[in-house]
Formats: sequence, structure tokens, C-alpha cells
Amino acid sequence: MPRRRVLVIGSLNIDLVVHTPRIPHEGETILATSFHRYFGGKGANQAVAVSRQGVETIMAGRVGQDDFGRDQISRLSQEGISTEHVVIDEEQPSGIASILIDAQGNNRIMVVPGANGQVSLRDIEALEPVMAECACVVIQLEIPLPAVVAAIRAANAQGAKVVLNPAPAQALPLDIYPHITVITPNESEAELLTGVRVTDIASARKAAQVLLDRGVLAVLITLGSKGVYGLTLADEFHLPAHDVKVVDTVAAGDTFTGALAALIGAGSSLAEAARYANGAAALAVTRHGAQPSIPKREEVLDFLAK
Ligand code: ATP
Ligand code: RIB
Repeated sequence: MPRRRVLVIGSLNIDLVVHTPRIPHEGETILATSFHRYFGGKGANQAVAVSRQGVETIMAGRVGQDDFGRDQISRLSQEGISTEHVVIDEEQPSGIASILIDAQGNNRIMVVPGANGQVSLRDIEALEPVMAECACVVIQLEIPLPAVVAAIRAANAQGAKVVLNPAPAQALPLDIYPHITVITPNESEAELLTGVRVTDIASARKAAQVLLDRGVLAVLITLGSKGVYGLTLADEFHLPAHDVKVVDTVAAGDTFTGALAALIGAGSSLAEAARYANGAAALAVTRHGAQPSIPKREEVLDFLAK
């Protein structure tokens, strides 16, 4: 039986979002436009992005023993995502993200990890039998680095493809790169990982080459409104971004990585999966909120067909 499932290991947050005409200066109070609460967290967003592409999805992580945590679990379950491996942490509250969005759609995000910061090596060890049944394991950097490193090693050892979205950016041990199948940094994450300032295709190529030289099989650098750049040993491509009306880019990167993993898990080529994910992420930036903005498969296919 071919493996079809995708396991996402990562953070679950409640996003507390304030829309404001502009970001206030230090010491200044201004009147903002609106407040919304959304389901978020890079891990949970990416799990939703995988699941909405019609792929069986398992979420693993930690929430607090509180209303936010209970709400997260019930939302993901309604989405059809398995939450059996979301541990309820007895010490820490659920993670939250405080998000400011200005009139141009630019965001500023502060995350309080709470229970996400308690994901342990034991949690990862318990996931090994699940990894052995998954086509693909997706990981980000909103849980402790030792857990991330252990998860990458274990997933690779269990024969799953490993998709790493290195966000929020932090340096990784050099010996972990050969265990990563696809890495999906944005421009600033690529710069932090490689020391190459990414501003255009030429600099994206340089940064991607550094990551390939460290042993990653495929690099996809997301370039926001400039689209996505891909490099493997055998292939290179740039996909321009779709021309859409941007209202809120929160979870654009998560939608990209989740949609990509869904297709890669199902056996698509990197270029095919990137083209699809570029369409899914373009739709996400036209909508408000993290998880509410993530499109389903039919919407992506319709959009790409136009
Ligand atoms: P975020 O942190 O806001 O979730 P990110 O910084 O991780 O996003 P970006 O590189 O900004 O990731 O965007 C991810 C993908 O989303 C891009 O590669 C592209 O496919 C899509 N995208 C982002 N901005 C735009 C835009 N202005 N127009 C069309 N597509 C976009
Ligand atoms: O990538 C977007 C996510 O980052 C938000 O949903 C927020 O929770 C932070 O984790």
C-alpha cells in the first residue's frame, strides 16, 4: 500500500488580530479599526492547508488545558484532521499570537509559545510509528529546536519525505540538512540560514545553492509578491506570483508549505507541487485571517484553470 498520509508537527496558536490604519509609534495610542480572533499557529495552519487539499492529515503538538486549547482541538477535528497526537499540556497555557495588520495589509506578529514550547523529545519518539505510515512529515520552527531536530531525523529514518518550513527563522545544526527533502524559507529566512541577502532571482539562486550544498534535496524560496524560486540538483525554476488583490498575507507561507506537502506526499513532482502551492497561497492573500484564508482543492484548481 503506498503511504498517503501527511503528519504535521508544530505549533497551534490563537491569533488575536488588530486591524489598524497604521502601526503606532513608541509611546503613542491610536484608535484601531477592528479586532478578530482566528485559529492560527504555523503547525495548525499547515495541517489545515494539507487537509483542505483532500489529503488525510495528522496534527501533532501541544495546547494548554484551557478554552483556547479545547477550541483548537475541536476546530481541527471538524476539519477532519486527526488530533490524537495533540497533547494537552498541564503546565502551560495555549500559544497565542498578537498580530497587527495595517491598511496596506502588512503585518507585525508576536508569538507567546506557551504549550508549544513544551513539545518534547518524548513526544517526537511517540510519533515514530505514525511517521512510518506517512508519505510526508511537515515541520516548522515554532516548537523547541531539539524537538525539531529529532523529528527531522526520525521522519527521515522512517522513510517519510521531510518538508521543513524554517519559520520563524533560526540557525539549524549543519548535520541536519541532509535529512531534509524540501526546505521552504521566505527571503529573510533564507538570508538568516545562508548569509546571502535575498532580493531577486539571482540572489535566491545563490542562497538556494548554499542549502543544496549542505545536503537538502530541494529548495523552494518563497519571494512574496515575486512568487517562488526552486532549485534541485536536476532542476531550476521561477514561478511569478499571481496578480491578485492582497488584503492579508498572514499564513501565505503556511498555505504554500501545506499545499506543497499535500502534493509532494501524493507523488507530484517538485515543480508541479510548487505551481499548485503558488496558486493556493495567492488565494490565501486575498482573504482575512490565518486558517479562514486557506483554500480548498476545488478552489485552487478553479483558480489555476482561469
Ligand atoms: P507569511 O509569513 O506572511 O505567511 P511568508 O513570508 O512565509 O508569508 P511569502 O514569501 O511572503 O511567505 O509568501 C508565500 C507565498 O505566498 C509566495 O511564494 C506566493 O506564492 C504567495 N504570495 C505572497 N504574497 C503574494 C502576493 N502579493 N501576490 C500573490 N501571491 C503572493
Ligand atoms: O504563519 C502565520 C502564523 O504565525 C500565525 O497564524 C501565527 O499564529 C504565527 O504562528
